[in-house]
Amino acid sequence: MKKVPNQALVIFGASGDLTYRKLIPAVFDLYMNGSTPDGYAVLGVSRSSFTDHEFRKKLKEGIQEFAHYKEASDADIDRFLSSVFYLSIDTGKGEEYARVKEKLDELNKQFNLEQNYIFYLSTPPALYTTIPKYLYGQGLTLQQKGFRRIIIEKPFGHDLLSAINLNQQLLEFFEEEQIYRIDHYLGKETVQNLMVTRFANGIYEPLWNRNFIQHVEITAAESIGVEDRGGYYDEAGALRDMIQNHLLQVLSLVAMEPPSKITAEDIRYEKMKVFRSLRPMSKTELKKNVIRGQYTDATVRGKHYNGYREEPNVAPQSRTETYAAMKIFIDNWRWQGVPFYVRTGKRLPTQVSEVVIHFRPSPQRLFKSADNSAHSDNQLILRIQPDEGILLKTGMKVPGSGYEVRSVNMDFHYSELNDHYIPSAYERLILDCMGGDNMLYMQGEAAEETWRFVQPILDYWENDNDAPLHGYPSGSWGPDVADDLIEGKENTWRYPCKNLAEDGVYCEL
Ligand code: BG6
Repeated sequence: MKKVPNQALVIFGASGDLTYRKLIPAVFDLYMNGSTPDGYAVLGVSRSSFTDHEFRKKLKEGIQEFAHYKEASDADIDRFLSSVFYLSIDTGKGEEYARVKEKLDELNKQFNLEQNYIFYLSTPPALYTTIPKYLYGQGLTLQQKGFRRIIIEKPFGHDLLSAINLNQQLLEFFEEEQIYRIDHYLGKETVQNLMVTRFANGIYEPLWNRNFIQHVEITAAESIGVEDRGGYYDEAGALRDMIQNHLLQVLSLVAMEPPSKITAEDIRYEKMKVFRSLRPMSKTELKKNVIRGQYTDATVRGKHYNGYREEPNVAPQSRTETYAAMKIFIDNWRWQGVPFYVRTGKRLPTQVSEVVIHFRPSPQRLFKSADNSAHSDNQLILRIQPDEGILLKTGMKVPGSGYEVRSVNMDFHYSELNDHYIPSAYERLILDCMGGDNMLYMQGEAAEETWRFVQPILDYWENDNDAPLHGYPSGSWGPDVADDLIEGKENTWRYPCKNLAEDGVYCEL
């Protein structure tokens, strides 16, 4: 593998949860894999006051809990942490950024960083334009000697207008090719495999269109509630938190045309065409095709869970959705008339993300179904997580006399691979940025286009008093009415279990 150049990672918002749980464990895994360059340093920047020693101590715990190499020896972890530093500044004050520059100059000499810096913004979004402005003020965004890149965490904007403004403001201080808008779903190995499954196999692609596919389901279910993120979540909701970004990205990979080459430019171009083809919903369609829900309290397997409105930092009368489901159409040649059903929610029965391709049934039902399972045949399931893998459900003859048919599984699980080190999404994405590859990052235009699609839904929910918000008990699959979204009497959502090969109401969760 080609080594990336010497460089530093500067994390703003370094005292936060993301740094502790995801970023540093990912960088540590890169270090253990030998992917970090010889000259490498990490500088954490935040308001909270820590010494380097205190910061490292905290990060060590994070590594031991969340890194892939969590069993690494103390010596390995300490050696890695010896090039991790901390700087406390008031990030809202321009003059304090001189200290960032000073510290980087010092680290540059110590580690021979060749003045290559990645700035990672893991701060509240209010700072997404402030920090770039002050970095620019110190000349830190100019690529005269080394490279300068900036990674922006989600949420990228709060609505269409704010996303457009954010793009414009960032472009005052950075060039587009320096900006890496992260969507961690794109770093997931199984999400990248969507494209490989489609375009590396001759068998699927000829069927991958409106002639053979009846509908597509995209699900991201979570069993957790909003945890301690009530303050953020109550302003966001499921549509902004999961659909505008992660699930529309997944949809674009399922729906895109084959790129002519595997380059950032070609893939982004094809994805963009999908975003542009998403059919905007009229008022009537919004009423019919979009459903929102909010979890209520319930006792699940003997444990009591609070309703959303009782969660910390959530408004007692909140109308924020913790569940959203919708029927989306893509107005292009390949997908005309094929519904894409997308749903996500918190406090659902289990944590599962997957894509289900429902092929059209055979034109004539010649055989009787042994267990009434005919409607679950003809499905290709691309499991994103957990039990990562692929499952094809087909009908097979039940042995014996007659011609009864039963649904059977052909399944592949990543865990069956001999070498199944699956890098975390952050590991993959940070490494790509270190090497200057932005293929798995979002273009500014694409971020705007996905907001353009969801904006009418946000407006409908916000402004129309008749727009229903359905309660659903914690631990259920969301509001019952979501079943009515699916066209066709025989069709329902798949109710996935933790194990890829199982589904239905009764399963291990
Ligand atoms: C984040 C959302 O972007 O994705 C969270 O803000 C959500 O609310 C998370 O829990 C889900 O990510 P994953 O990788 O666990 O599916």
